Amino acid sequence: MAAPHSPLVVSEKNGAIGVIRLNRPEALNALSHPLMDQLEEALDRFELDASVRVVVIAGSERAFAAGADISEMTGATSEQMRSDRHLSRWDKVSTFPKPTIAAISGYALGGGCELALACDLRVASETAGFAQPEISIGVIPGAGGTVRLARLLGRALALEMVLAGRKLSAKEALSLGLVNRVVPVELFFEEAMKLAREIAAQPPLAVLAAKKSVLSALNCEYPAYPSALKFERELFCSLFDSEDQKEGMRAFVEKRKPHFTGK
Ligand code: CAA
Repeated sequence: MAAPHSPLVVSEKNGAIGVIRLNRPEALNALSHPLMDQLEEALDRFELDASVRVVVIAGSERAFAAGADISEMTGATSEQMRSDRHLSRWDKVSTFPKPTIAAISGYALGGGCELALACDLRVASETAGFAQPEISIGVIPGAGGTVRLARLLGRALALEMVLAGRKLSAKEALSLGLVNRVVPVELFFEEAMKLAREIAAQPPLAVLAAKKSVLSALNCEYPAYPSALKFERELFCSLFDSEDQKEGMRAFVEKRKPHFTGK
């Protein structure tokens, strides 16, 4: 358990690498508003700091992140969700101009999986597991999961993940191209740093141009991609008017099985 006033995100510079560690172990790094505020602040600092060439975002061995904070969202209405800028923090990561690497071990669930997907590269430990379990709490992914998984994995597997909550092991994620490298758990952070240093050693202007070009090849910066993300976000928010969302999230908080009625 972190000390009562310890930061939810610990950031530091390691040579040309900006390191951001999620630090909310008691909630498996659930991505609460305060945590994502601190993540955003760290990214802003690293964006402005010309000596930072690559950013690594890491969780703990047990959890990269177990999703957005369910207890914060349980009672929210669709209007409150629409006007809340929380989900735009994931866009901050996906549109960050410098290369980003997620160092993932343990749970990468819901918004945690989406945070990993918003990074450019992913290094995973053998214990990493990727899933979008939102369906089991009455909603869908709201921070890019449906869009990025459909693009990375294709229709059938993306749908199995978002409809049935199918989890991918690190080995499966590697074979499907969802992660770049898989290493033993004790090495996942160091391996991410090694990859970061490889990139940081390249000429900085060419690195930025290379990233921009790949993102534009994938239409990440053009209307089609953002409109798919907006569409997902609207569907996600609209579900907050349903009884199933309230029941699903309340059941998680109360540690019981949900009873869904389709209302
Ligand atoms: N939000 C809030 N708290 C969470 C959390 C989350 N997403 N995930 C875990 N926690 C908390 C638990 O409430 C628990 O807190 P307490 O000790 O105070 O009870 C603590 O972390 C440890 O969790 P568990 O006791 O549940 O640990 P476990 O080992 O039994 O289970 C788990 C681990 C399978 C990851 C389980 O915690 C879990 O299913 N978490 C939720 C996963 C999920 O549904 N994520 C999607 C969230 S919605 C979302 O992300 C929307 C979006 O697209 C942005």
